[in-house]
Amino acid sequence: MDYYNEELGLKVPEHVAIIMDGNGRWAKAHHVPRNMGHSAGSKVVEQICEDAYNIGIKYLTVYAFSTENWKRSAEEVGALMLLLRNYLKDCIKRANSNNMRVIVIGDKSGLSEDIVETINRLEDVTRDNTGLTFIIALNYGGRDEMVRAVKQICEGVQNGTIKASAIDEQMISDSLDTRGIPDPDLLIRTSGEQRLSNFLPWQLAYTEFYFPEVLWPDFNKEELIKAVEKYNARERRFGGRKEE
Ligand code: IPE
Ligand code: IPE
Ligand code: MG
Repeated sequence: MDYYNEELGLKVPEHVAIIMDGNGRWAKAHHVPRNMGHSAGSKVVEQICEDAYNIGIKYLTVYAFSTENWKRSAEEVGALMLLLRNYLKDCIKRANSNNMRVIVIGDKSGLSEDIVETINRLEDVTRDNTGLTFIIALNYGGRDEMVRAVKQICEGVQNGTIKASAIDEQMISDSLDTRGIPDPDLLIRTSGEQRLSNFLPWQLAYTEFYFPEVLWPDFNKEELIKAVEKYNARERRFGGRKEE
């Protein structure tokens, strides 16, 4: 359910998902190594979590690393993993002081052991926090998520705990990494690219999309509010039609 922010005079989407793109182009424009673009980008994430919650967003999902990002050079993947490792550790402290609940989605089995341990600890210690629910998509791919969900359901059918005829949309939703989380209302992809790159294909079925030109390291509260303004101008029909 949208929340009405009186001060802004805007309805605020309950769940915002962001494809944080453009770190590399930002680094290039500033004549610095790509890795500096990624570290600048990771600082923006911290601030946006606070801004999002302060304007009334309840769920924020960010795409941090895709199942396809392993195709990048060993150097870049290594730098991203180091950054993520430090980010997640730091997040443990920050999340509790901000009353933030953190959930990580994606295939954890593809991540190194110490990162998985940090994720488990992070999810564990923030489980009962009641502020922003912050969802980090890490080694996440929508198709991979669906494959894992289908396997899980098929195992249930095989061992007799699930009847094939009982499979419905709700069961599939409940078998995805995002189980229990409402679908995003608004998707933002920065840097002007207009594609999903395997991000939440099931969950974004009825989401409003917004593609600002700004590169992720330059994203800020004003840009977030601009996105919410764009959302306010949309008419969501969900297949129905507005009565005249
Ligand atoms: C997004 O920035 C961050 C990740 C994919 C991890 P990019 O690294 O994709 O930046 P561009 O698209 O090259 O500018
Ligand atoms: C999507 O961005 C993944 C993340 C932002 C983590 P990419 O930059 O990897 O996507 P493509 O390659 O341009 O589709
Ligand atoms: Mg990119």
